[in-house]
Amino acid sequence: PVASFEAFAPVNIALCKYWGKRNAALNLPVNDSLSVSLGNKGSTTRVAFLSDAQADEVYLNGSAVNRDSGFYKKVVAHIDLFRGLVPGCLRVDTVNDVATGAGLASSASGFAALTKALSGLYGLGLGDEQLSVLARLGSGSACRSVYDGFVRWHKGVRADGMDSFAKPLPESWPELRVGVLTLTGEEKKTGSREGMQRTVDSALLYGSWPEQAERDIARLEHAIVQRDFTLLGATAEQNAMAMHATMLASWPPLLYWQPESVVALQKVWQLREEGVPVYATMDAGPNVKLLFEANSTDDLAQVFPEMDIIVPFL
Ligand code: DP6
Repeated sequence: PVASFEAFAPVNIALCKYWGKRNAALNLPVNDSLSVSLGNKGSTTRVAFLSDAQADEVYLNGSAVNRDSGFYKKVVAHIDLFRGLVPGCLRVDTVNDVATGAGLASSASGFAALTKALSGLYGLGLGDEQLSVLARLGSGSACRSVYDGFVRWHKGVRADGMDSFAKPLPESWPELRVGVLTLTGEEKKTGSREGMQRTVDSALLYGSWPEQAERDIARLEHAIVQRDFTLLGATAEQNAMAMHATMLASWPPLLYWQPESVVALQKVWQLREEGVPVYATMDAGPNVKLLFEANSTDDLAQVFPEMDIIVPFL
């Protein structure tokens, strides 16, 4: 072991979503999912041994995290996975490049960065698949943030989840852009953990979701190999809309959209009618993410001047 260790992991945006668990304690998903990591946007986490401390200290963007918070408890539970090796408390410092709760999954990059940092601190030298399994235990989508580029999370079939981890795809797409529209930075009321459980438990429509995801993953992999942007964008948008339909079909209904989300989606659909190839995706929050290629940047910047443009393949 070393005294401290720092690691970075990127945020990822799912083009085929993870929604629904077959095992909630282990974050084992019902379906495979496929994402793209957002280059140098993500979390940087430093972990260090504390001498003579009674509890772990967790800092997020420079501020101490309250020990009663759910976030603190999740971080401590993650450290506990490793602590048997060298007992003692740690200080964890995470800095996110993206607003927490703004619809970019900072928990995914955060748990992936924490897992890499802990592997380094305890001198484990874990391979990527082992890091992905461990990151998954912190937050399901974190298993994809272990890698850059396009990533597929294989759901696995084992009850212990040891075959449920992500692997990178070899293809890159330098022209691909992700535009983030931060419509509201408000923290969501229902987190994805609770939201997906409610959907699985109460939405009959969820019965069609595994088939939707399976079809969409196949289309996305084909689109990535063929560099077919229309197929990539259309598949990602339909997949996101289908996921949100299952949420709305839950009881009580789950609607992450705000009026601003609908306005943004309508602008995207209008732009497509005008011949601009742009597609949208949304996660468990009100913000809309745009998918486009570099040569559409000027058209989009006119309609969405506040958009944050991210280059996934640097
Ligand atoms: C809508 O990974 O945050 O963003 O495993 O309970 O921590 P937990 O859930 P989380 O869910 C992400 C859901 C999503 C879709 C996706 O990223 O695939």
